[in-house]
Amino acid sequence: MSSLVPPRLAILISGHGTNLQAFIDACACAELDAQIGIVISNNPDTAGLQRAENAGLATRVIDHRNFATREEFDEAMVDELYAFSIDLVVLAGFMRILTPVLVEPFAGRLLNIHPSLLPKHPGLHTHQRALDAGDCEAGATVHFVTQELDGGPPILQCRVPIVSDDTAETLAAKVSLQEHIIYPLAVRWYLQGRLQLTDNEAVLDGRTIPTTGIQYAAG
Ligand code: GRF
Repeated sequence: MSSLVPPRLAILISGHGTNLQAFIDACACAELDAQIGIVISNNPDTAGLQRAENAGLATRVIDHRNFATREEFDEAMVDELYAFSIDLVVLAGFMRILTPVLVEPFAGRLLNIHPSLLPKHPGLHTHQRALDAGDCEAGATVHFVTQELDGGPPILQCRVPIVSDDTAETLAAKVSLQEHIIYPLAVRWYLQGRLQLTDNEAVLDGRTIPTTGIQYAAG
């Protein structure tokens, strides 16, 4: 994707916004040749909005509590994404289930990061569930978003070992650091035209990515 106008990202958040911060930093240091066109939060009181404002980014609060249905909420989101000419939608801790109203028009242009080694532990409380299951590793997965919750084709996975005194909080902290590396990397591949969603499979450089995603190795 090379053009004189940098591609425009929308970052959708609900919480702390540490992944948003990773994208702000990656765009600022030209690690990503992109522009964050809009940051949208469904939560008016999130720390992530402050991060966006500190970076001088356009923000919108679209509070899901003001909409009767998920579809109407998604319609409002789609209107904003079109209004800001968004090329790629990046879900970064966005805690709403999306409907086809948003997923279909942005199919193949919609990414998420989930804090588990998908297909293990879709849904909530992933780190506690990894501990309860006796897993020896935790991690996060960047994936394309499809209509299946946390079930779209994986792109990139990071892993951290689970040690005996880990808690859900210590695991979240360790995984979070890795998320801030792999999520911008996957977006970079997309913006370079190397990554696509084709026939419900993630494809990098013309090759289908395995169903657990590419394994990120630090260093
Ligand atoms: C991350 O753990 C991410 O995997 C999940 O939500 C969390 C967002 O954290 N989808 P932050 O708001 O980016 O700090």
